[in-house]
Amino acid sequence: MKDSICEFKAVSKDYSNPHGFFATDSYKIKALDRINLSVEQDEILGLVGESGCGKSTLAKIALGLESPTSGQVFFSGHDIAGFDKTRMKIFRRQAQMVFQDPFSSLNPKKTVLKILSEPLKIHRLCSKDHYEERVSELLQEVGLSERILNRYPHEFSGGQRQRIGLARALATMPRMIIADEPTSALDVSIQAQIINLLLDLQERHKLSFLFISHDLPVIQFVSHRVAVLYNGQLMELMPRSAFLQSQNHPMTKSSNYHHPYTSLLLNSVPVPDPKARAEAKKGDHGAAFNYRSDRYQDGCAFCPRCDLAVDRCGIERPLLKEIEKDHFIACHVIT
Ligand SMILES: Nc1ncnc2c1ncn2[C@@H]1O[C@H](COP(=O)(O)OP(=O)(O)OP(=O)(O)O)[C@@H](O)[C@H]1O
Ligand SMILES: [Mg+2]
Repeated sequence: MKDSICEFKAVSKDYSNPHGFFATDSYKIKALDRINLSVEQDEILGLVGESGCGKSTLAKIALGLESPTSGQVFFSGHDIAGFDKTRMKIFRRQAQMVFQDPFSSLNPKKTVLKILSEPLKIHRLCSKDHYEERVSELLQEVGLSERILNRYPHEFSGGQRQRIGLARALATMPRMIIADEPTSALDVSIQAQIINLLLDLQERHKLSFLFISHDLPVIQFVSHRVAVLYNGQLMELMPRSAFLQSQNHPMTKSSNYHHPYTSLLLNSVPVPDPKARAEAKKGDHGAAFNYRSDRYQDGCAFCPRCDLAVDRCGIERPLLKEIEKDHFIACHVIT
């Protein structure tokens, strides 16, 4: 196992209900529930899960933009909560973010040169005379021409803007980039170009990526390891090879199997081959959609939707267990 660049230790985040006004409404939203996870050096960790499961919250906590309610986040082995002003500035340079929406993430009033010079100026990475030269280099890195230096964001397509967003992240020579749904606002053909660029940059600069998406084929394609999140809880963590393997019904205990939630996710991806589709259906957790809220007190978050759940699942949170080398599942039933 490589050294970790970013490590979450028992990280939880509660939000108060934004619509709650009266005391009875003021319940807490458990956006993250005791997450233990790390992004290793030089790896792309894919984070997948349905909308609202806490992916962006984890990203914000990793970057120190939100504080966890409990737990710790370590960057290069140091707790980010203990960073002083100087160390925080270095951290901000080393950990960068690429946003989902390339349209709103760039200041429309500034030229490309201004946008990409800003991080150079803030972090004093080169002298003013060299901004133009360095920005041209960055544009070249992301496949854009230096001729666009004096143009404005609205003059570009979504894919081009996302390239500018990537160039801005690269400007500070980061060690880790958090990409939160970086391709979901783009056309499919452009998505592929951006993903290939991202893979290329990762390899060239030995970057670590936390790559967030709810698009399973994209996650399968880019990730070295995949983490599966459900309602704020980490359900499964596995190498890419395990995620790629077609799922088998967990109870058959074949050589590759998944958490019931991951199985559900994998089964929801359309399979073009009818034979393979029929085969996959055999392991389908149809009953998993029968929501049984009475089953869940303080246990596994997926318990109310799980057709394999036993009484213990609703009252005791399962811990992540290694079921195969580097493959962890949090489930009382699948062991
Ligand atoms: N500032 C906030 N105040 C209150 N609740 C919040 C806040 N930010 C997030 N939440 C809640 O926390 C939960 C997790 O949100 P988050 O944005 O992390 O989900 P996500 O997995 O990124 O979803 P999506 O795939 O739609 O982007 C959701 O229930 C959301 O409503
Ligand atoms: Mg999100």
